[in-house]
Amino acid sequence: MEVATYSQTNPTIFGTGAVNLIGEKAKEFGIEKAMIVTDVGLVKVGVVARVQGLLKDAGIEVIVFDKVNPDPLDTMINEGGEIARNEKVNGVIGLGGGSVMDASKGINLLTTNAPPISNYYGSWEYDRGLPLILVPTTAGTGSENTIYGVITDSTTNAKKVILTTGDLAIVDPELTYELPAHLTASTGMDVFAHAAESMTVNMTNPMTKLLAFDAIRKVIKYLPIAVADPTNVEARENMMIASNFAGIAFSNTCCHLGHAISQCMGAKFHVPHGISCAWALPETMAYAAIGKFDEVKGVADALGVEYGDNESPEELGKKVADNMRAFMKKMNIKSIADYGIKREDMLGDLVDMVMEDNCFPFIPSPLNRDQVREIIAKVYDTYK
Ligand SMILES: [Fe+2]
Repeated sequence: MEVATYSQTNPTIFGTGAVNLIGEKAKEFGIEKAMIVTDVGLVKVGVVARVQGLLKDAGIEVIVFDKVNPDPLDTMINEGGEIARNEKVNGVIGLGGGSVMDASKGINLLTTNAPPISNYYGSWEYDRGLPLILVPTTAGTGSENTIYGVITDSTTNAKKVILTTGDLAIVDPELTYELPAHLTASTGMDVFAHAAESMTVNMTNPMTKLLAFDAIRKVIKYLPIAVADPTNVEARENMMIASNFAGIAFSNTCCHLGHAISQCMGAKFHVPHGISCAWALPETMAYAAIGKFDEVKGVADALGVEYGDNESPEELGKKVADNMRAFMKKMNIKSIADYGIKREDMLGDLVDMVMEDNCFPFIPSPLNRDQVREIIAKVYDTYK
């Protein structure tokens, strides 16, 4: 076995009803005035009012910053940081999906460090921010337990990463009950991609493999149930665990080619992250089977894909990819063309963007530009 490094970020409280502990936990951190970082959708459905009420009941003053959009921009994070400093909050709550939690990490960092947030891309050189509690409302990103925050830079349109964690995650499956079927499916595909990619990066580790394997099993079993029946408690709980486990898994390894393609498609075409993760995943696994045969066998085992002793990497890769595409169909994931994206739009500057993406260095075996282009073409051609 190769030498491997793995760790965990912040503690996690998991379970249905766990969010009711937020006031008590915020007080334990000494928070007297909190900023809830969130989005307008969660304000509308009443989730923000509920959490605000829980904090107020604990005697904590609350301000709400609800300007987070998908693919959060550096400019919005700079604005949130300025408000937090001016309002003199002494704690930050990230309440939402991946974009919200990533934005709250950035805003929190700016409470104790000079703006702009672009100063801290890819850097560990900063003062620890205020206490940060992360409360996911989707089963997708796992950001509550990762070291990453993905930010879209407004000057270059590239996705950049800040490296920072929360201090506590409160993971309550009940908060995902309101999520409609299409968002349940797309965020669930993000979980799938985190797990499968983290098992097959150029250097994985035993903890990642274990958590990612279990996450894939749970996605295959429970995502179809959660999509069909949004209030199915067992399915929502298992998807929330899968999301959290896959987050811990990839926080220790990063993702690779699939997320490089997905992030760049997100930046270029503004498609939902989980959808582009799904598109890229099958051909990413077909390619990964060449360099990481045993690891892709692990993905096949998690999927329940059968293979023989004499199976070649190419044959196994194709079986895994076909299985994933069938699952995507079952989850009603539309094709790239359905989103109005043309084949030629995929094969120009996107190829260079992918090769410069922060996930690309973690690919399992070297790829030149022609090979990346060929994989991207297959991503387009093999899922209609
Ligand atoms: Fe992701």
